[in-house]
Amino acid sequence: MVVMPEPAPTLQQLLAFYLEAGVDCALADEPINRLEGVDPVPAPAAPRPVAALNPLRPPPAMPAVPRSEIVAAPDAAIASAREAARTAPTLEALRALMETFDGCALRHTATKLVFADGNPQARVMFVGEAPGRDEDIEGLPFVGRSGKLLDRMIAAIGLDRSKAYIANVIPWRPPGNRTPTPQETQICLPFIQRQIELVNPDVLVTLGNPSTQALLGTREGIMRTRGKWLDYDTGTRSIRAIATFHPAYLLRSPSYKKMSWLDLRAIAKALVQVSA
Ligand code: URA
Repeated sequence: MVVMPEPAPTLQQLLAFYLEAGVDCALADEPINRLEGVDPVPAPAAPRPVAALNPLRPPPAMPAVPRSEIVAAPDAAIASAREAARTAPTLEALRALMETFDGCALRHTATKLVFADGNPQARVMFVGEAPGRDEDIEGLPFVGRSGKLLDRMIAAIGLDRSKAYIANVIPWRPPGNRTPTPQETQICLPFIQRQIELVNPDVLVTLGNPSTQALLGTREGIMRTRGKWLDYDTGTRSIRAIATFHPAYLLRSPSYKKMSWLDLRAIAKALVQVSA
């Protein structure tokens, strides 16, 4: 039997394949061959001499690892994020140190830091999970489809971005919009916590489950946690906090907009109460 070779894919087919696989942006102009210079499969190791296993002998010296190849342990990265965030006296200082923070690998695949949008003097702060493609391009949170819905949600209670402050738990887009890893969330947490402390809103709104669990320490799903008032402790002050649905979820499941409207009304009422 003669097997005919598959025709090579067209450029469009190749791009469609990449898009399907979550590769929707180019990170550099030139491709990087990451297999270049990698040794072929190493020969099986020679059996260890018996003497090396003798517990009375000192272990063989480890080969020296160049400092540049030592990847920061997540614990060290979390500690350095905490230390950096703690020392930022203002939002501008916090943004500046996040621009150069090296402890989170997401910074290297993202195009831009997505710090925040809106009014730092606002009385209400909304926090989402992580930027997507549109946010990564513009460097602003919630500017894509779900951002347009968030704008409409905020407008429904008489506010806009000049009267609200918007940020994310993770300030860099995860490649291909994948879910951030728990380690990435832990590393980024001190930054959003400091941002909340510096903005010091009267009401904190978490959008969706990931930001609710990360900031409010809840363990249940958004169906159970939404619409309930909780306390968010900045360390110096307690802020009223409430979780609601993420706008991206509402785009997929519009029937939950009714419940989100109840949450928005509760937020509007709380803002009136706090200023009374
Ligand atoms: N989803 C988020 O959680 N944040 C954004 O900024 C955009 C989409």
